[in-house]
Amino acid sequence: MALETISVLFSQEQVEKRIAELAQQINRDFAGETVHVICTLKGAMHFFTSLTQQLTVEVVEDIIQVTSYGAGTVSSGDVKILIEPECFMTGENIIVVEDIVDSGRTICVLREYFQRRSPKTVRICALLDKPSRRVVDAPIDYCGFEVDDVFVVGYGLDYDQKYRNLPYIGFLK
Ligand code: IMP
Ligand code: MG
Repeated sequence: MALETISVLFSQEQVEKRIAELAQQINRDFAGETVHVICTLKGAMHFFTSLTQQLTVEVVEDIIQVTSYGAGTVSSGDVKILIEPECFMTGENIIVVEDIVDSGRTICVLREYFQRRSPKTVRICALLDKPSRRVVDAPIDYCGFEVDDVFVVGYGLDYDQKYRNLPYIGFLK
């Protein structure tokens, strides 16, 4: 039995409507081009699937995995890359898909990682942004929703590896 109580923050309908808008924006921005869309495992899995299915530009899908929080709600601040993408990225349009930008450290490391591979463009697409928690400058190019300083779960986001499967975004009470 789960001990946590979860309240709905964004319903499945709200989340999916917003993802459709982000997809349209990307389709407009990259019309006629190919985009390499990178899923940041594991948190972005559900967002990535919904987003890429609505892209009409030519898409190459790839993955990257970085160290996560471990069992808790506070970041260690130390970001390591565990699984690297396999595609060649020189001269390509890269869109990094993240679940949430919190301190901003993960996104900084990812942007640098992809910039070093001499792509044409690197864009960050995050479902959620918690601006009040930022400790490093981390601009987001495509952002789903801003959230307050609460711990959110669902639609891919976890608490101790649980609740990723919830079809909505909720917060722990
Ligand atoms: P940052 O490096 O501090 O920006 O942390 C980013 C990562 O921490 C995200 O990719 C998430 O996996 C995780 N994270 C941050 N806040 C939350 C939250 O509220 N719920 C679930 N995961 C979170
Ligand atoms: Mg996580």
